[in-house]
Amino acid sequence: MNNKSLNVDEAIGHFAGVLTEDQKKRGLLIHAFHQIQKEHNYLPEEELKKLSKKLGVPLSEIYSTATFYKQFYFSPRGRNVLSVCTGTACHVRGAGEMLESVKEEFGIDEGDTTEDMQLTLETVGCVGCCGLAPVITLNEEVVGDIDDKKFKGIIKHIRRGE
Ligand code: FES
Repeated sequence: MNNKSLNVDEAIGHFAGVLTEDQKKRGLLIHAFHQIQKEHNYLPEEELKKLSKKLGVPLSEIYSTATFYKQFYFSPRGRNVLSVCTGTACHVRGAGEMLESVKEEFGIDEGDTTEDMQLTLETVGCVGCCGLAPVITLNEEVVGDIDDKKFKGIIKHIRRGE
């Protein structure tokens, strides 16, 4: 299925008759969460309430499903999302220091977003590119082999509001 081309109503049709009722509901919810998050950058409560009404699924069940998955967010995220890999390979190659530098530079902790919404800082276990350690992802793009120069460039890029 091409997720990009289906809206919620089309997805209802797609899932019908193929899966169990529970699987259908879950699949449909996840699809809807992705659509909502794509539009708003997170899952606003108002949108989840609308979804609950539209699908006849209790709001508590909507939240229970959404919170099960790490990729869904419940508060606004920054225009840039920088995620520092803190897996073993990255850790031994300086990820901890890099994380501290970002915190200091932007005055935020991991999981936080700057007041100007320029940056959300996160950490991730391992992104599977250990040979490129230390690694970060910037807006889901993997950037590896980070040395001082690259790191400063990334900070500058975020500061400039790009
Ligand atoms: S530990 Fe960082 S990419 Fe694997």
